[in-house]
Parts: sequence; structure tokens; C-alpha cells
Amino acid sequence: MKHRSWAEPFKIKMVELIKSTSREDREKAISEAGFNTFLLRSEDVYIDLLTDSGTSAMSDQQWAGLLRGDEAYAGSRNYYHLEDAIHKYYGYKYIVPTHQGRGAEHILSQIMIKPGDVVPGNMYFTTTRLHQEMAGGTFADIIIDEAHDPDNEFEFKGNVDLEKLDKLVKVHGTDKIPYVCIATNVNMAGGQPVSIANLKALRDYTNEKGIKVIHDMTRVAENAYFIQQKEEGYKDKSIAQIVREICDLTDGATMSAKKDALVNIGGFLAINDWDIFEEARNLVVVFEGLHTYGGLAGRDMEAMAIGIAESIDDNHISARIGQVEYLGEKMLSYGIPIVKPIGGHGVFVNARKFLPHLSQDEFPAQTLAAEIYIDSGVRTMERGIVSAGRKPDGTNYYPKLELVRFTIPRRVYTQAHMDVVSESVLSVYEKRESIKGLKMVYEPKYLRFFQARFERI
Ligand code: F0G
Repeated sequence: MKHRSWAEPFKIKMVELIKSTSREDREKAISEAGFNTFLLRSEDVYIDLLTDSGTSAMSDQQWAGLLRGDEAYAGSRNYYHLEDAIHKYYGYKYIVPTHQGRGAEHILSQIMIKPGDVVPGNMYFTTTRLHQEMAGGTFADIIIDEAHDPDNEFEFKGNVDLEKLDKLVKVHGTDKIPYVCIATNVNMAGGQPVSIANLKALRDYTNEKGIKVIHDMTRVAENAYFIQQKEEGYKDKSIAQIVREICDLTDGATMSAKKDALVNIGGFLAINDWDIFEEARNLVVVFEGLHTYGGLAGRDMEAMAIGIAESIDDNHISARIGQVEYLGEKMLSYGIPIVKPIGGHGVFVNARKFLPHLSQDEFPAQTLAAEIYIDSGVRTMERGIVSAGRKPDGTNYYPKLELVRFTIPRRVYTQAHMDVVSESVLSVYEKRESIKGLKMVYEPKYLRFFQARFERI
């Protein structure tokens, strides 16, 4: 026998019951939610693929860690465990815990960005870019062109185009570039990895120019898995080794531990430069809390320290991405247009191709997410024009990618759930021509995708 199946490296100790509602109930719920899946009550959802953020199942060890919480205001022992885990697995020198990723982005942006600065990055992320803009900076996209094409099957679509970066340096000068922001396993591109070769080339270039590289390491373990599977010279290295190699090529990081690090809340800012750390340690007390808890309970930091260690285990990560691939392959076998290659944290359906009769101003991805919810109670998220929002001058961004993200929480659902999800997508695909678009009737000023409301055209 040649083929050997993989299985999850855990067994289930406790379950949470879920139930499916009727189509009528779902029509009512989505209409009351303004056709925005963020505004649904989770009780009205059957299978929740809204996000992989904070939705993981913690292990028994992590739950045990919660009971070891040291809730001292200052100097909690759990803070030192977290610091040890970050030193050991990621290697950054100084750390400041924050309540989640955007807390770290806020502090970093306030310290490093001056009005008029330009911050190059390998594709935008919603909160990251907004914090850069609120500090007076402008985001500049330096990801390779392939990343904006859902059908391009290049294996490292998260890579930086060094020519784009060099152009920015020539136009603005290094004084205007506080750092380059590099996300591993780029979320908005479809969970697409950066190669070590590209990171090394970026490191050489930035060393020569004296520019810092800050790592959005939210999904670094998933990126390491793709390097192990696809990059020459890495198949015999462990995920832990590759994660460390990635971190060592950068000067600091922001982390949303709610993703790879397997916790329901938490994050941190890590930095190798003492002066930036000093300022961050000072600023964190204004916005988050003392520098030894940063908006977290001691128990949260303990769960994070344990989660970091579990997240870089080879068996964990291959099963995690194996499940995403399982869903993606199923959709491909039904002829559903998805972003290729299949990414690390979810399957991204190409709404432009799914609903070609809708213009981008009729919100194809928002529409499709609502239709999938109505069909089966599966909750997904828009990652297209609504998420992209408006530029500082008030005009809309028109992103090339108009996607619906089926984000898979870690260690939560089974393959049977993935079967149900893919069958629902197929049934919506079969009646796609009859689907009408949406119009936006309420638009919040910041991060509009969270709270915007729509009506059917
Ligand atoms: N960076 C990336 C790449 C992210 O995906 C996120 C969050 C953040 C930063 C911000 O972290 O939520 O802890 O404040 N992404 C979530 C998602 C919200 O659904 O993709 P946070």
C-alpha cells in the first residue's frame, strides 16, 4: 500500500454542541445582520469559518496552565514563562505583551512612524495599515505581482519584489522608510508563504541600506511548513528550526497569538533594539497595561507560552494545513474557483469568478458570504473591496482580489465538517446566476468590514 492517510495528532476530551437552523431562520438572521457575517450572533451559525483568530481549541496542557495563572499586578511568573518561550522559539531579545496583535501594531507604529513616512509591506493587512496611517504614514505594497492573481500557482506568493522596494527607496530616501513590514503566510493574499531565499535577499538589501525589517509573525509556523515542503534544502529541517531561521532574519515582530500560538486572546511586540524596547515598555503602560502583562491576565500569558511550543510541532502543523488542503481539494474537485496554491489558514474563494455578473461595486464577496450562510449556516468572511476600505483621501481602494475566506480554526472541526462546507459551496455555485448583489447602507469610518450594513439590490 502506497498511500497513507494522516490523522489529527490529538483526541477529543470535551465537545461543544452546535446545531443547524432552518433556511428561513437564516434568511431572517442575515437580513437583521445587514448581510454582514460579522453582525450575526454565533448561536445562529452552524460551522464558523469567520476567522482563525482566537477560535482555536486549547490543549489540556493549556487549560491546566490557566489554573497556574499568577495574577500579580507586576512581575507575574507567567510573564517570565512567556518571555522564555519567545526567547527559545523565536529568538527576539526584548518583549512587551499586548492584549492582541493590533495592540502591538499600535505601539510600534506610534514609536517608529513619523508623519510623511512610507511603510513598505508584502500586501496590506487591515489593522496593520490603519495603525500605520493613524501614525501619519502611508502603506506601500511591495509584494510580487503574482500575489494579486488568484490563478497564479507560484509557490511563494508572499515574496517581496525587491525592485519595488528599491524604487521606493530611490524615490523617498531611507530617511522616510522607518522599516519594512514583512508578514509571514500573507493573510490577504490567501495565506501565502514567503521563502527563506527571499527573506535572505531582503535582509541583505536592508542591511546595506540600514533599514529595519519588522515581522508580522501571526502565522509564522504555517509559513515554515510551506518552506519545509516546498523550498529546496528544507525538507529535513524541523518547523522549529525554520521558524527560528525566519525570525533571525528580522529585527523585531508584532504577533497576534490568537492565530498560530493557539490562544483565545493575546499578542506581543518583540524587538532586538534596546531603544525601541524602552519606548515600547513606556508606551504600553498608557494603552495596554504594565509591561509585564500588557492587557492580559497572568493565565492568558501562561496559555500563550504553552501554545507557542505546541504550535511549532511538526505533527500539529502538518495536520492543521492538511485539513485546509482537504477542504481546498474538495472545492477544486467541484470546479469552484479558489485561490491557488491552497493557503495555510483557509480556503479563499474567488468571488469575481464565482459571480462574474456582479461589478466590484455590487460587493461580490460580501454577497457570496451571505448566500453561503443562507444555504447552510456556514459563516465565512469577505476579503475584498469592503475589507480594503478607503484611502486617507477618502476614495475607495479597489483591490484586485475579491475573495471569500473560509478560515479554519485550529483543532476545532473534523473532516466531516469540511465535507458539509464544500457541499454547501457547490449548491450555491449551481445557482450562482440567480444571485443578486448588495448595496452598502451604513459605513463606519474605520475598518468598515466589521460593522458595515448592506441591503439586497
Ligand atoms: N496581522 C495579521 C496578519 C492578522 O491576520 C491579524 C488579525 C492581525 C495582524 C491583528 O491581530 O486581531 O490580534 O489584533 N487577523 C484576524 C483575521 C482578525 O481574522 O484575519 P489581532
